[in-house]
Amino acid sequence: MTKIVGLSGSLRAGSYNTMLLRAAAALAPEGTVIEVATIEGIPLYNADVEEDGIPEAVTALRERIVAADGLLISTPEYNNSIPGVLKNAIDWLSRPPAEIARTFAGRPVGLIGATPGPGGTNLAQAAWLPVLRTLQTLPWFCGRVQVSGAGAAFDARGALADEKARAQLEKYVAGFAKFVAAARR
Ligand code: FNR
Repeated sequence: MTKIVGLSGSLRAGSYNTMLLRAAAALAPEGTVIEVATIEGIPLYNADVEEDGIPEAVTALRERIVAADGLLISTPEYNNSIPGVLKNAIDWLSRPPAEIARTFAGRPVGLIGATPGPGGTNLAQAAWLPVLRTLQTLPWFCGRVQVSGAGAAFDARGALADEKARAQLEKYVAGFAKFVAAARR
């Protein structure tokens, strides 16, 4: 079984990015499971707090990522870039630096996103690229999921109702799952 942790970059109960990950989990091909994780409970990064020990919420999320074969991030876009709360979580996960090797280096990473706006999180996804490189991840670039007009793409129950977006997501998940399985270590 190939295991992928899906990380939503939003804390909002009605988050489109969390909905997108749930849709991805539902569309996962046979032999692949996508478990949706949250950045809930991760405090603001503070080096003084780090000196006292890595917060429990950070360690718990890290262990979920380490136990999986791949990481699928669903990023919102804030001011044409990365949302601070998600960057904060990734920054915590990169501490202390020795943890980068275990948590990120060589780890297959996929990046998708949803927004009610017209841009489909294109700029946020581009803004993640230097971060993914710095953390020595193994990003998968052979597909794209950039859901725009999310208010209409998801139905009242949070299901991805837009046929085109669904087909795109299904294709993405199938490709990423194959990539993750091939990179399994
Ligand atoms: C936004 N939003 C937004 N959307 C977008 O497509 N491009 C952008 O640059 C921004 N900028 C932005 C800044 C700030 C501070 C907020 C709070 C919001 C809208 C954003 O896409 C919307 O709130 C989404 O619903 C956030 O994702 P979740 O919470 O639905 O997953």
